[in-house]
Amino acid sequence: MFRRSDLAAAGSDRAVTLHIADQAVTAREGDTVAAAMLAAGLSSCRSTPVSAAPRAPYCLMGVCFDCLVEIDGAANQQACLVPVREGMVVRTQQGRRGVDDAADGHGDAR
Ligand code: FES
Repeated sequence: MFRRSDLAAAGSDRAVTLHIADQAVTAREGDTVAAAMLAAGLSSCRSTPVSAAPRAPYCLMGVCFDCLVEIDGAANQQACLVPVREGMVVRTQQGRRGVDDAADGHGDAR
């Protein structure tokens, strides 16, 4: 669905490998986590608490909060604002988040 534009080729060509939803994904240095997810064909970052509807990055500028993911054990991170790092581990978030989720680092829905 998404592909990189020719303008993106003007950026860094250095590859960064991270794990998103248990898949090894190669991104470019300077990509955000959301861009890496979309480029890899992974569109669902989280599901809603009430209907479990999937949500994907929408605004890509930190406004809509539809891109919330767990990054390296820290829940509720905006994937569109966090640059990729080598070895980063990203997990999708399913359903309602618990009050303690951000503190305990567990990404499981409760
Ligand atoms: S995509 Fe809207 S806040 Fe990240």
